[in-house]
Amino acid sequence: MARRKKIYEGKAKILYEGPEPGTIVQYFKDDATAFNAQKKDVIEGKGVLNNRLSEFFMTGLAQIGVPTHFIKRINMREQLCRSCEIIPLEVIVRNYAAGSMSTRLGIEEGTQLPRPIVEYCYKDDALGDPLVTEEHIAAFGWASQQDMDDILSLALRVNDFLSGVMLAVGIKLVDFKIEIGRVYDGDFQRLIVADEISPDSCRLWDMETGQKLDKDVFRRDLGNLTDAYTEVARRLGVLPKNASPITKPTLIN
Ligand code: TMP
Repeated sequence: MARRKKIYEGKAKILYEGPEPGTIVQYFKDDATAFNAQKKDVIEGKGVLNNRLSEFFMTGLAQIGVPTHFIKRINMREQLCRSCEIIPLEVIVRNYAAGSMSTRLGIEEGTQLPRPIVEYCYKDDALGDPLVTEEHIAAFGWASQQDMDDILSLALRVNDFLSGVMLAVGIKLVDFKIEIGRVYDGDFQRLIVADEISPDSCRLWDMETGQKLDKDVFRRDLGNLTDAYTEVARRLGVLPKNASPITKPTLIN
């Protein structure tokens, strides 16, 4: 088979040209980074778990009518996706205070917010993805007012879906980040959920014990990241209930 053309390599994923026009292949690496790549490690099995978990969430979203870039999983580390223009924003939804919001506003981690709060960061590693307002987004033309209405509605629908899925398995969805892509159907453009949804991009706390089951385990040196992601996958039925803590995951096909 001809070597695929690499389109982009990020911190946790590589994008290749897909087999048909308008498609890409998204490859999940085992690399973990935090604090804008100042902290780095290779966590064996993370890419495999995130590939499966992102498939699970994106498929569930499609089932409730939320459009996503996901087409199908190809193998343990790769998925076929629709190519799109990524809007240069990290869209963050928070249900409980944590992380940068707690630091910025002095709110204790775990405090329930009066309602879900949506924040936008400008995607630029050199600047450390700074928080921006809708004024910046409109003035610099990153997204139109119509886009912003659609982005807010997508973000809140993803929040309702993910919160419910997690609640059902005893996990609190503290916050998460999504990225939004633009696709064109002829002259008509619409927005879809792109990138990935995984414990790399969410905060997930066990409802009973408060145990962290997300990338904060790596960011804050709280234990074994693969074990935490395996626990999430197992509870969601993406891994067999009796799977042992893994380095090489045995996944349900
Ligand atoms: P924060 O509290 O550090 O701003 O993170 C908010 C949410 O966004 C949290 O669920 C982790 C996720 N996130 C990413 O997915 N990528 C990033 O680069 C950062 C900083 C956070």
